[in-house]
Amino acid sequence: MIAARPHRILLSTTGLDPSCWLEQFRRQTSREVVDEPDGASDPSIRFAVVWKQRSGVLARLPNLKAVFSIGAGVDHLFGDPQIPQVPIVRVVADDLTLRMSEYVVWQVLDHLRQGWIYRDQQARKIWLEPWQPAASDLTIGIMGLGVLGSDAGKKLRALGFNVTGWSRREKHIDGIASFYGAAQLPAFVGGCDMLVVLLPLTPATRGIISKDLLGHLRSATPIGGAVLINAGRGGLQVDADIMRALESGALMAASLDVFEIEPLPRDSGLWSHPRVTITPHAAATSDPARLVPIMVRQMDEFDVGMPLENLVDRATQY
Ligand code: NDP
Ligand code: OXD
Repeated sequence: MIAARPHRILLSTTGLDPSCWLEQFRRQTSREVVDEPDGASDPSIRFAVVWKQRSGVLARLPNLKAVFSIGAGVDHLFGDPQIPQVPIVRVVADDLTLRMSEYVVWQVLDHLRQGWIYRDQQARKIWLEPWQPAASDLTIGIMGLGVLGSDAGKKLRALGFNVTGWSRREKHIDGIASFYGAAQLPAFVGGCDMLVVLLPLTPATRGIISKDLLGHLRSATPIGGAVLINAGRGGLQVDADIMRALESGALMAASLDVFEIEPLPRDSGLWSHPRVTITPHAAATSDPARLVPIMVRQMDEFDVGMPLENLVDRATQY
């Protein structure tokens, strides 16, 4: 029999070093934080903080009140078929949003300014100014106009780009044309010079970046071809279809932060494609020093009867 200890937090992660998270929790709360429950049905654990939690671990906690995702995306959580019916809180934080907008602006500007041409010219010591389109000549389409997509869209607008967005429901965001629902997807994609993907991975979005969708991109763009930027999830895309689209010219270039298999296998042709920029799922990192205080505040508020924020809808899985 385990003696009940009040207010413990379980930290359950795989593929992520828990030590910085443990350290931040120990600094910022008097609650005990553990990375293993005391036995199969530890009654002292009230909250769980997870990134790809060990399957079944949450279902065995009889007094679990809420689960906090370490990321904005929660697909890692739904990989566990036994998630208990408690509220799931995801990350919504200015720090994470700004980091993602930085990544999107960084990549969009690199494609606008045709960075690959200069990198190639520098390697060959060539001094030649290429044709330089203006931001206002291009339309950037953002798939997923949620917290991250709408912020990135506003920042791109401020730089002079035309911006459109696609979401499940209609949006009203100043200066950003809204497309929504499956029926409007081909028209949305067909109107973009660069496609930025910031969708969640759900049963409805898995594999959406496919040969079919890439086939709707226009090939004649002011920078010479279409560009794909995916910082959502790897499961949204079919890596092989992206490779084929690059080879056929349906896609001219891509910036990929996420992949079907992570780390990206060493034999993937994407690694060495001259117009593909690869980052290791690092577009917007979850910084424990900035996110733990938000989680701790929510736990404290919940304990005095206040509602949790940024709850995940189990029906849509985001
Ligand atoms: P939000 O939940 O705020 O936004 C999701 C957007 O996607 C919404 O606009 C939503 O539409 C739209 N959407 C969801 N399902 C569909 C669908 N079936 N058809 C059309 N649109 C759909 O999420 P965030 O903006 O906070 O985050 C987006 C994703 O970014 C995360 O889920 C995560 O996977 C990824 N991410 C990646 C990181 C990285 O480092 N690479 C870091 C952080 C997040 P509607 O508005 O109508 O609901
Ligand atoms: C997230 C991520 O979902 O880092 O926050 O991928």
